Amino acid sequence: MEQKEDLLKEVIGHAKEYGFVFPSSEIYDGLAATYDYGQLGAELKNNIKQYWWKSMVQMNENIVGLDSSIFMHPTVWKASGHVDAFNDPLIDNKDSKKRYRADVLIEEHMEKILQKINKEVEKAAKKFGDAFDEAQFRATNPNVLRNQEKITSIEDRMRTTLENNDLDGVKQLIEDLEIVCPISGTRNWTEVRQFNLMFSTEMGSVAGDASTIYLRPETAQGIFVNFLNVQKTGRMKIPFGIAQIGKAFRNEIVARQFIFRMREFEQMEMQFFVRPGEEMQWYNHWKAARLNWHKKLGLGDQYYREHDHIKLAHYANAASDIEFDFPMGFKELEGIHSRTDFDLKQHEQYSGKKLQYFDTELNQNYVPYVVETSVGLDRMFLAVLSASYKNEVLEDGSERVVLTIPPALAPYKVAVMPLTKKDGLPEKARAIIDELKFDYLCQYDEKDSIGKRYRRQDAIGTPFSVTVDHQTLEDNTVTIRDRDTMEQIRVPIAELHTRIEAKVSWRSLLAN
Ligand code: GAP
Repeated sequence: MEQKEDLLKEVIGHAKEYGFVFPSSEIYDGLAATYDYGQLGAELKNNIKQYWWKSMVQMNENIVGLDSSIFMHPTVWKASGHVDAFNDPLIDNKDSKKRYRADVLIEEHMEKILQKINKEVEKAAKKFGDAFDEAQFRATNPNVLRNQEKITSIEDRMRTTLENNDLDGVKQLIEDLEIVCPISGTRNWTEVRQFNLMFSTEMGSVAGDASTIYLRPETAQGIFVNFLNVQKTGRMKIPFGIAQIGKAFRNEIVARQFIFRMREFEQMEMQFFVRPGEEMQWYNHWKAARLNWHKKLGLGDQYYREHDHIKLAHYANAASDIEFDFPMGFKELEGIHSRTDFDLKQHEQYSGKKLQYFDTELNQNYVPYVVETSVGLDRMFLAVLSASYKNEVLEDGSERVVLTIPPALAPYKVAVMPLTKKDGLPEKARAIIDELKFDYLCQYDEKDSIGKRYRRQDAIGTPFSVTVDHQTLEDNTVTIRDRDTMEQIRVPIAELHTRIEAKVSWRSLLAN
């Protein structure tokens, strides 16, 4: 655990040192839970967006994109339920004065019990070796069964109390489980209260309720209110999807853990409109498709797990998270939600406009059901950065820090380096960049020894480094070094494009 906390600190330090992420308004000592993406961070973020957009919009003929405004008519948020129900149940510890989400405290307690079970299984696996039957052990071992029962009963109580908005019941559960504040170690808790997470502001100069507008807490509503616009103008036939990338804002109370939970963040959301009754089939389809999208990046399958929700958002009848093993442990990276016809029906009711689809095959009008996929761009960024960050000891005993960022996402694709600053080598290096720059972001670097320059490129995740030396001037060959294997080979300049393309292209990522 300590090691993992160190990893988060190292990643934050590295991200700042190399221009990936800076604290926002740093010269004024920063602003809590807001961050700025630096010169390399902006590139990585854009590449993640492109990976998502291409795989959603470009690779699916029945999904189109949209870019709706952040400000929306205030009634949108009444209709969507966010004014009344976009709340977190919060509890304060009177001794540490720290505020927590009550459901998160309970979930963390359940996670500890789950870890006990896993330890028990690991111990038994070691003891019995090849003869170990994990499924049978889990089904029969008394300790495992007792702990599993505990989890189920806590889950049941949590679901019931939260669904019934029984805040006293939630507090009672925290007391019964003897949950202590991680800071003060005491059980001196306040009552549980609901807190709305939307930011509001005034539009125009007229004071009063009519001019109060909200900063959108999710991008999804911009899609719902444009459902008919897109369906009609795009001649879309159900099932079809509308995708959007954009900023969202939430007044998170427990905002921490770097860019994992921020007050201003970016979402990549897709609403998939389906026939009523077919939503569970599509929900399962998108759960599998989205997990596959993540795994294709090659960060390692062990980083992912699925978690079906107990506490459903006010709009969902089924929901599942794809969790990622961040430096802080497994946490939500993406949500897949079956939103039923809740949003469109609400908007019909509040706007008085019909939001229906005429299904020519069924010869029937209906309000479509919706399956949503929603991934946080900043969380994707943290996932890629933390899983790519490696401190390696090399064969000769030296060390290097390398970011093994999936090549298609890497900020710079290739660095071109003249061996020396004279003899026409810089000019030759720049001529190579002038050819490659149409397709790839290239970096020119002539400072320090070649070894140091390689280390700098490793530290920012550049997949290839190309060195121009005196032989280059004679035969138009260069050495190309691979970031991951550190292998260097001599190749004709004319081959560079093909070699780089094979590794960094979108095709290589999307087609595998
Ligand atoms: N439209 C559905 C929706 O907004 P959500 O589970 O509340 O669902 C979706 O959010 C995703 O947005 C999350 O899985 C997470 O990746 C990201 N997200 C949510 N709150 C965030 C925050 N405060 N900071 C960064 N990312 C956040």
